[in-house]
Amino acid sequence: MSTAVRSPLAGKNIVLGIAGSIAAYKAADLASTLRQLGAEVWPVMTDGAKRFVTPLTLQAVAHHPVAHDLWSEEDAGTVAHVALADRADLLLVAPATANVIAQFAHGLAPDFLTSLYLVCRAPVLIAPAMNGKMWQHAATQANVATLRQRGHAFIGPEDGMQACGYEGVGRLWPVAGIVAEAERLMVGSPPAGMR
Ligand SMILES: Cc1cc2nc3c(=O)[nH]c(=O)nc-3n(C[C@H](O)[C@H](O)[C@H](O)COP(=O)(O)O)c2cc1C
Repeated sequence: MSTAVRSPLAGKNIVLGIAGSIAAYKAADLASTLRQLGAEVWPVMTDGAKRFVTPLTLQAVAHHPVAHDLWSEEDAGTVAHVALADRADLLLVAPATANVIAQFAHGLAPDFLTSLYLVCRAPVLIAPAMNGKMWQHAATQANVATLRQRGHAFIGPEDGMQACGYEGVGRLWPVAGIVAEAERLMVGSPPAGMR
């Protein structure tokens, strides 16, 4: 008999937002881990994210199509970013750029991810990754404070050696820690249809 404990993520629809950070490649590991825990993973990539990792990679590990073009509406009966926002049990953005954090904070919606954010009523978990000076800039910190006040959860960034050559805060939090935080948020969270 199996003694494996079922993850609170099992059966949950997780919209995984991926933005244009060098750490975008780690989103493939994150998507794969979430799927292995039984979650349905729906990747959404910004144009910036696609400079670092291909949608094909994310699609292959998530087993769902990748949304990245706000203007490509394949189903005439629905608006894709609205339908996906309504389906989400969790909006997880990893890695989140300074740009996406700013757009979320200010309600700007120029692409699929930021438009979906404004429609979405699911819990939001943000895992930033950026150069330490970007993270510590007063503008970024004010935007983070706005999103925290809105009830969104943050994990990281962590200290360490960064791809840009700086040593300091700014690295994406380790995938295992992001997954654990997502699990914590999903315990007792009402399903998407009840929000
Ligand atoms: C090589 C390279 C690495 C970058 N890494 C980051 C990063 O880790 N975090 C970040 O906030 N921006 C980073 N940027 C800048 C973003 O890609 C840029 O702000 C972009 O407009 C973000 O778009 P998006 O948020 O829509 O993905 C990087 C840019 C380049 C060229």
